Amino acid sequence: MASQDVIDQQIRAYYGGPDWDEGSRLTSRSAQGGLEFVRTQELIAERIPVGSRVADIGGATGVHAASLADAGHQVTLLDPVIEQVEQARAYGTFEALVGDARGLPIEDSSVDVALLLGPLYHLAERADRLRALEEATRVVRSGGWVFAAAIPRLARLAALSGGAGMPRGWEDLIEHGTSPAGGRFPGGHFHTSAELVGELSDAGMLEVEVVGVEGPAGLALEQLAEADEDLRRAALTLARAVGGQPGVQEISNHLLAIGRRP
Ligand SMILES: C[S@@+](CC[C@H](N)C(=O)[O-])C[C@H]1O[C@@H](n2cnc3c(N)ncnc32)[C@H](O)[C@@H]1O
Repeated sequence: MASQDVIDQQIRAYYGGPDWDEGSRLTSRSAQGGLEFVRTQELIAERIPVGSRVADIGGATGVHAASLADAGHQVTLLDPVIEQVEQARAYGTFEALVGDARGLPIEDSSVDVALLLGPLYHLAERADRLRALEEATRVVRSGGWVFAAAIPRLARLAALSGGAGMPRGWEDLIEHGTSPAGGRFPGGHFHTSAELVGELSDAGMLEVEVVGVEGPAGLALEQLAEADEDLRRAALTLARAVGGQPGVQEISNHLLAIGRRP
């Protein structure tokens, strides 16, 4: 397993380099991205009132942040990759800072909502993931919300095994969530939904639930550049209906854990 220092360097090279555009991942790279974006925004909007103060930790180029700012929320985005933060600042509708989820430059209890839609699967050690979750909990007011995304083990296996057979180390991925060697994505850890509930609970959150964001059709949509309207609607309907079912969570592209600060 790569050390966290190596993974952190890989994160800066991957997201800050010319070969990857995180800004287009949710909008045009595949039919899965649009489904992920719509479902994630819905799950947030169902719970938070307009005018909420939102910390978007690991917010990348600001696709979620811009949409939340347009919906009337006060957003502060934070990301370790300077190139992405500069792109986010160009929206001009929210604040964007360089920083790390493990040590937030944000006051205690100063926001209503913390989004952690990215850091957890880039942190290999449980102690680092708990630190990021504890930081998110610290900055949220009592009764406020934490939304934390993770990548299920089967989704990572599907991404790595397409056409080329099983990747080396796949057994450790399935059993322990360890990132297999290979692929450009700087993986840290891949979750089960039960493990994710445990991590949010151990970080002090209450009422933790986990939703499979894209539901049963997400992995198939990952293979399509575009989907027609009927297919998109069917996938969204399925995700809304059964994304929270045990089993469906584990075959979604992403897990979204939702918890509240006591
Ligand atoms: C796949 S992107 C997700 C971006 C966006 N939040 C979304 O949901 O589409 C993962 C993001 O997490 C950021 N990240 C990785 N490690 C982090 C850390 N330790 N603290 C904060 N952000 C981190 C990366 O720079 C990247 O922008």
